[in-house]
Amino acid sequence: MIRRLDHIAIAVPDLARALRLYAEDLGLTLAGTEDVPTESTSTAFFPIEGTRIELVHPMGGQGPIAKYLDKRGGGLHHLCFETDDLDADVARLKEKGWTFLSESARPGAHGSRVIFAHPRSCEGVLIELSEHAKDHP
Ligand code: CO
Repeated sequence: MIRRLDHIAIAVPDLARALRLYAEDLGLTLAGTEDVPTESTSTAFFPIEGTRIELVHPMGGQGPIAKYLDKRGGGLHHLCFETDDLDADVARLKEKGWTFLSESARPGAHGSRVIFAHPRSCEGVLIELSEHAKDHP
């Protein structure tokens, strides 16, 4: 079952400028940055009241975020919902006709498991489902 909004991911063409916008202009607190080489993505997290904003930027100018920015420019990239049973939710959504970008869930940050649903399944919005490791809050 989907429990909460884990994060909202924003694709940014200029990470330094976006960090200033979210930290200095909006006044959010940067919790950290992380490069994810397997996804060719640099990320930065701003926690806020039970969820977080995640900036995503192409690492080395390549990968899925670079393609996204070329096609659509910066903006909302995906919503991530935390689920307490990823496999059950995927099965339930597949029954409703949803399609997913991979056959099965992949390892995410902090021992989580994640999977992305195709944007056409949800009115043009890319949806990530994440099941946290049992020993991680
Ligand atoms: Co995400």
